[in-house]
Amino acid sequence: MNNELVGKRPIVGIDLGTTNSSVAYINASGEPEIITSFKGEKLIPSVIMIDLNNQVVVGQEAKDAVIAMPERTLTAVKRKMGQKDELPIADRRLLPEEASAIILKELKKYADAAMGEGEKEAVITVPAYFTDEQRRATKQAGEIAGFVVERIINEPTAAALAYGLNNLKKKANILVYDLGGGTFDVSVVEMMKGILEVKSSAGNNFLGGEDFDWKLVDFLAEYMIKTYDVDPRASIQARYILKTEAEKIKILLSKKAVVEIAIPIVVVKDHKPLGIYTQITREQFEAMIAEFLDETMVLVKKALDDAQLDVSEIRDVLLVGGSTAIPKVEQLLQEYFNKKPKKEIHPEEAVALGAAVQAGIKSGQLLKQQLIATDVAPFAMGIAVLKVDATDRLKPGGFQKIIDRNTTIPVRKSEPFTTCFDGQTTVSIEVYQGEDEWVEHNHFLGEFLVDGIPPAPAGMEGINVSFFYNINGILEVTAELESTGKKVIVNMQDELQRDSMEVFRASVKKIEALLETKTAEHLSSHTQMSFIDAFDFEDEKDFGYPDLENQDLEVLKQELEQLRTDLSGRINVDENQILELIEAAITTQERSAMIEAIEEATDLLIKLDLD
Ligand SMILES: Nc1ncnc2c1ncn2[C@@H]1O[C@H](COP(=O)(O)OP(=O)(O)OP(=O)(O)O)[C@@H](O)[C@H]1O
Ligand SMILES: [Mg+2]
Repeated sequence: MNNELVGKRPIVGIDLGTTNSSVAYINASGEPEIITSFKGEKLIPSVIMIDLNNQVVVGQEAKDAVIAMPERTLTAVKRKMGQKDELPIADRRLLPEEASAIILKELKKYADAAMGEGEKEAVITVPAYFTDEQRRATKQAGEIAGFVVERIINEPTAAALAYGLNNLKKKANILVYDLGGGTFDVSVVEMMKGILEVKSSAGNNFLGGEDFDWKLVDFLAEYMIKTYDVDPRASIQARYILKTEAEKIKILLSKKAVVEIAIPIVVVKDHKPLGIYTQITREQFEAMIAEFLDETMVLVKKALDDAQLDVSEIRDVLLVGGSTAIPKVEQLLQEYFNKKPKKEIHPEEAVALGAAVQAGIKSGQLLKQQLIATDVAPFAMGIAVLKVDATDRLKPGGFQKIIDRNTTIPVRKSEPFTTCFDGQTTVSIEVYQGEDEWVEHNHFLGEFLVDGIPPAPAGMEGINVSFFYNINGILEVTAELESTGKKVIVNMQDELQRDSMEVFRASVKKIEALLETKTAEHLSSHTQMSFIDAFDFEDEKDFGYPDLENQDLEVLKQELEQLRTDLSGRINVDENQILELIEAAITTQERSAMIEAIEEATDLLIKLDLD
């Protein structure tokens, strides 16, 4: 063992992906290496299941069970990170960070087996475009899983590090194009004698292979509507069947120009299975996802503009993420940059390997190579202020930037502000990220109150607001009130996380209890059921709506009340109109209104379950 490591906590790098996750470390020869699962997989699906014995299963086996037991599985949890709503799984409810912690704990088992049991530090990657809450939730997930989270780094930066390790001497600008399952990120990185400097980042947190799958689901559903006049998307199980098939078709289309589709059963109607027998061409698929791919190219251009570089100044284009296997992606990049993109590091492993490189820099294992990476804040951050609007009137809700987009991090910046009313003794500091000059179009991060301001005429009391955007991409905000020698300092992070320790401990306990496995060898025959077994032929009521036309009004009313309960707390402001619809239907007791409300609410519930 390397002497430098004695007495130090081992450290790993983790790619916590929307679709797949993996863990890597610096091996004895000083190379980054993926730690495989017990079955020898380099990555495991980011899917968790609570099986019929109430045991938690993570990875391929859980993914295989999604069709049979959608309500016992969770997929694409990363898309929910930072949200406060719990996700239903079996008879439990998990916060997104708790669900992610379960995946991280699984990876930790592999690391323990490879590196020895015991406490470990981790470098965990996130999309460069992740918001503050999403980063905090990721850090929290790592801690719930029992890691000491040493660092959160951006995925394209990690990929550049993996690449940089093999290209240390070359001075060049590279562009990292990372199209994964859930997110798209692009970064422009300058490499120079072992220093990797991210110049700019752009991206979209909701653009990836998942979206392409859903486009294919729509295509398959339209076939069924045309052929059988049945929309299979009304049934949760049918939706999962189509989603699973869609991903397979998509992956085949990366290799073949035409794919034959044969799905024997999607739904059962009048005791007859209805299936799909058709074909799809690569061109058809490319047309379906054209708007997504075009958006990635717009973001590529934005990243280049922000870095003030011309296409010709980019020496290498790195492909990262499973979705870059789509031939059209490579073609678009090749046309734009006039050169073939690089795939010398496996696109699905680059991020985890780069996280391990960052881990190796921290632990000293890669000291010889003298590699350093600096990153940027991918978005502007600031606070809400009074601002003059188009009609020349002073209006609240203006956005005052404090940190600019693509500033190198860590960064600390302060701006002086003053009170705006006579005798004002409190001021609310509302923090946002985004680019728009009005906060309503930006993303709200949090707010806190500064009180104890001595009453004075408007504009006479000064408040210094400081933003500290740290190396993990997490923001700390301080407001300092300076008057007659008195200082009031409020730290937003404390403010936001007042009860976070309690919540954290509760999560740790909850996950530990959930994972407490019985000593008996885990038998999971039921999860290996074939596709046909998995389909419950008796369960026709699952498909479509029950006969509401002939139901008692009282039954409809009870149904509506139940839906109201099921929906409450799970929907956002935009979706609130459904509650009004339910309310109105219950009041009027008018059949058509009641049926409409039931159908709409059911649809929304299914959507919430699937999203
Ligand atoms: N040959 C292929 N052709 C097209 N898509 C593919 C292919 N192989 C994998 N994919 C898709 O790539 C995605 C997974 O890629 P990857 O593992 O890089 O994502 P991730 O890291 O989990 O997601 P993210 O980085 O967005 O959080 C899935 O949507 C998968 O269907
Ligand atoms: Mg990824």
